Amino acid sequence: MYLQLNSISKVFKETKKETLQDISLEVAKGEFICIVGPSGCGKSTLLNLVAGLDTPTSGTISLDGQPVTGPGADRVVMFQEAALYPWLNVMENVLFGLDAAGYPKARQLEIAEKYLKMVQLWHYKDYPIHQISGGMKQRTALARALALDSKLLLMDEPFSALDKQTIHILRAELEGIWEKTKKTILYVTHSVEEAIYFADRVVVMAENPGQIKQIIPIRFARPRNIEAPEFTALRKQILNEVSLSARKSVADEFDGPEVNQA
Ligand SMILES: Nc1ncnc2c1ncn2[C@@H]1O[C@H](COP(=O)(O)OP(=O)(O)OP(=O)(O)O)[C@@H](O)[C@H]1O
Ligand SMILES: [Mg+2]
Repeated sequence: MYLQLNSISKVFKETKKETLQDISLEVAKGEFICIVGPSGCGKSTLLNLVAGLDTPTSGTISLDGQPVTGPGADRVVMFQEAALYPWLNVMENVLFGLDAAGYPKARQLEIAEKYLKMVQLWHYKDYPIHQISGGMKQRTALARALALDSKLLLMDEPFSALDKQTIHILRAELEGIWEKTKKTILYVTHSVEEAIYFADRVVVMAENPGQIKQIIPIRFARPRNIEAPEFTALRKQILNEVSLSARKSVADEFDGPEVNQA
C-alpha cells in the first residue's frame, strides 16, 4: 500500500487524554480519501501525524515504503487559512517552494506557469497577496502545493472559510485537477456533501477517543451531481453515522440547516 497507517494512537502529554485510538488505514496511490467526523474527534491531529508535524504515541506511518518520522518534501499540507507569504506576490509564493526545492530558475518559472494556469490564476500572477480574495489565496496555496509534486497532498478543511459560491467553483476545479494529476489526497472536511463529492472512500470518525467508525466507498461516476437522489440518500446515511457519535445536532453543524429540508 502507498500510504499505510498501522494502529496509530495519540495521547497528548499536556492532557493525558487518548485523542486517537488504534487508527489503521491503507491508501492506494492516486486515491482521494475524505475524512469526516464530529468536531474534536481528532481529524486535524491525524493529518498532522501523517504530515510529520507531530509523532504518534504508538503505531507507525509509512509512505511509499518509507517510514514517516518528521515533515518531508514528499508530503504537502494545505490548511483552512492559506499560509502564504504576504510580502510576496502570487507567482513568487509558488516560486518560493520550488526555489527551496532546488529547481533551476528556468524550470521554476515553467512549473509555476503550468500550475498557476491550472488553478486559473495566471492573470493574477503579479498581484500582492493582500489584494486577492480568499478563494484566490486558496488557489495560490493549491498551485504552490501542486507545483512541489509531492507524493501526498494533505488538506485540512481548505475551503471551509470561503463563501458557498466560491466553494462550489473550487470543488469542481480541485476535482478536475485531481482527475488530471491523479494525486493521492487525504482531505479533512466538515461537510459530508463535500466528502461524497470528492472521495473514492469516506472515512467516518467517531470521538472520545477518536477512532475510525466506518469506511464507505463512493462509486458514483464523476463529476458528481450533488442533487442526484442517490447522492442525497447517501449523504443522509453518512450524516446519520456521524450524528450517532456527535454530541449535538449534527446536520446544523456539518452541512447547514438546509440539509434538513432535503
Ligand atoms: N497540541 C495539543 N495538545 C493537547 N490537546 C490537543 C492538542 N491538539 C489537539 N488536541 C485535542 O485533541 C482533540 C482533537 O483535536 P483536533 O483538532 O484533531 O480535532 P478535529 O477533529 O480536527 O476538530 P475540528 O473539526 O473542530 O477541526 C481535541 O480534544 C483537542 O483539544
Ligand atoms: Mg480540525
